[in-house]
Amino acid sequence: MFREGLNVFRNIAAASLLALALCIWAPRTVAQQKIDPEGHEWWRHAVFYELYPRSFADSNNDGIGDLKGITSKLDYLKDLGIDAIWIAPCFPSPQVDFGYDVSDYENIDPMYGTLADFDRLVAEGKKRNIKIILDFVVNHTSDQHKWFLDSKSSRTSAHRDWYIWRDGKAPSQPPNNWTSTFGGPAWQFDSGTKQYYYHYFYIQQPDLNWRNPTVKDAMFDQTRFWYKRGVAGFRLDAVDTLYEDPDLKDNPVLPGTDKFGMPNTNEIYNKKLPEVHEALRGLRKVADEYGAVLIGETWTKDVSELKDYYGEHNNELQMPMDLMMTGFKELSAPQYRSHINAVESAGGWPVFVITNHDIVRSYTRYADGAHNDDIAKLMAGMYLTLRGTPILYYGEEIGMENNDPKRKEDVKDPEGRAGWPKEIGRDGERTPMQWSESANAGFSKAKPWLPVPPSYKTHNVVAEMKDENSVLSFYRQLLALRHKEPALLDGSYISINEDDPHALAYLRRYKDEAILVVLNMSAADQKIRFDLSSLGFASPKLSVLLTSFHKPLTGMSDALSMEPYSVLIAKITK
Ligand code: NOJ
Ligand code: CA
Repeated sequence: MFREGLNVFRNIAAASLLALALCIWAPRTVAQQKIDPEGHEWWRHAVFYELYPRSFADSNNDGIGDLKGITSKLDYLKDLGIDAIWIAPCFPSPQVDFGYDVSDYENIDPMYGTLADFDRLVAEGKKRNIKIILDFVVNHTSDQHKWFLDSKSSRTSAHRDWYIWRDGKAPSQPPNNWTSTFGGPAWQFDSGTKQYYYHYFYIQQPDLNWRNPTVKDAMFDQTRFWYKRGVAGFRLDAVDTLYEDPDLKDNPVLPGTDKFGMPNTNEIYNKKLPEVHEALRGLRKVADEYGAVLIGETWTKDVSELKDYYGEHNNELQMPMDLMMTGFKELSAPQYRSHINAVESAGGWPVFVITNHDIVRSYTRYADGAHNDDIAKLMAGMYLTLRGTPILYYGEEIGMENNDPKRKEDVKDPEGRAGWPKEIGRDGERTPMQWSESANAGFSKAKPWLPVPPSYKTHNVVAEMKDENSVLSFYRQLLALRHKEPALLDGSYISINEDDPHALAYLRRYKDEAILVVLNMSAADQKIRFDLSSLGFASPKLSVLLTSFHKPLTGMSDALSMEPYSVLIAKITK
C-alpha cells in the first residue's frame, strides 16, 4: 500500500519537536495586524481558546478566577499553541447569568479586576502574540443596566423604547405565548408602569430593542470602546434572538411541554428573523474600521443556515461557529463524515467547536470508561486537523470532565434550579481549571465557586506536562504540527474511504504533498486500506507525524492497523 522505507515514529521524535517549537514561536511583526506575513487574515491560521473567567485562574484567592489570573497563565497558553483567547463576559454584572447579564459594557467587574488589569492583559498578550477576544452580549442587558433602570422608570423615559415593552393581551395575560429559554413566560410584568417587558433569557436579562436605531448606534459604540483598548474582536452572544416580530404574533404551539413545564412552541416569530443579518452587517462595518474579527454564537439546524451568517458578500461574521457537532451524541464516523462534507461543499471558512460553557464537555459526552483519554485525543485529532479555525474550550486539552451537581441545593446556575431534575444547568462544564494536584486543583487557595471533580488528581497541567502520553502532551504536539504544516493550515479537505463505517479518513492536500488523517471511531482494532492513486499518489511515501497509539506502529505495506479510538496523522509525498 505504501512504499518501502516509510518513516515511522510512534510520536514525533524529540528533535523534530524542538524544531517545531522554534518555528512556532518565531516572532511575527505587529500583534494586532490584520494580515499575517504570508498574506492571510490572522484569524485563519489562529487557534482560539475559550476561557470562562470565573474558572480559569484565581490570583487573589477568593475562589473566583480573575484577569490577573489569566495574565499569569499566558505563558502556559503560548506554550500550548494558542493565538487568541475568547474571554466569556467579564464586565460589571449582577452575575445572575454569570456575566451574560451586563450592567455596564464599558468596565470590568471588580470581581475580575480593573480596566488597568485588562490593559495589562492585552499588553502581555501582545508580547506573546496572543490576541484578546471579548464576549459581546448583544441581545439583552442586565435589568440593573442604567439604560433599563431608566427605561423602567416611566412610560415616557428617554430609554423606554430601548427595550420591548407591551400591554398585556388582557388583564394578567402576557402580550403573547412566547417562552423564555430558561423557563416560564418570556414576559415580565412591571407593576410600576403596568406593562410587560420581553426577556428571551432570565427575567433579569431584558431584550434590547434592536429596531430602535439609537440602540444600534449605542451598541456599536460599545464595541468601539474595546477596539480602542486593543481588543482583536468579539464573540457575539445570542445573535439569533436579536429581533422579534413587531406584531408579536403567537408562535405555533407544538405537542408536549419543555423542561420547565411550558408548552413547546416553534419559535418562528422571535428567533432568526431576517433583520438579524442587517444588525450583523452593521457590527461588521464597525469591526472593519479596526481590522477586528467577529465570531458568532450561531446555533443552526443545518449547514445552509450556517452559510447565511457569513453574509451574501462576506460582510457579516468572519467566524460563525459551527455548533452542530456539539449535538452529536455518538462517535460515528459516517455522521462526522457527512457533516464535514456538507460544511466543505458550502464554502466559507469553517469554525469547528466540540464543546463550550453551555454544553456537556466532549470528554464526558464520549467517555466509555475504558478509553476516555484515547477518545479525547481522537477528538483533538479531528477538530484540530480540519480545514478552518478551531476553538478549544479550556480544560479540553487536559481531558477535563463534567462535574455535574448531584443535588438541587448545590446548583449555582438558575436554569438548573428551575429545571431540576430534567435540566440540571451548566455548572458541570464550568468547573475550575485543573492546574495541579494540590488542593482545589491549584486553582485557588480558597474554596472555589464550583467544586473540582476527583479526577483532577490525574488530569491536571502539572502531572500531564510530565507524562509524554497524556492528553495535554498530545494536544501540544498536535497544535505544534497545526501551526507548522502548510497542508494543515491551508490544504484542501479531501474525504477518502467514504464507505468505512468505523474510521473517518481524509487528506489535507497542499501542492504536491498531503497530510493523511485517520480516526478510528470504534472500540475495535481496524485494518484500513487506501488507494490514493486517483488523487495522484500512486505509490505514496508516508511519514508518520503523530499517533495516539499505545504500541509502536509496525509495517503497513498492506493495511494500516488502527488501535481502538486512535488517530494517526502522516505526511504523504509522491
Ligand atoms: C449564550 C451564552 O453562551 C449563555 O451562557 C448565556 O446564558 C446566554 N447566551 C444568554 O446570554
Ligand atoms: Ca431580542
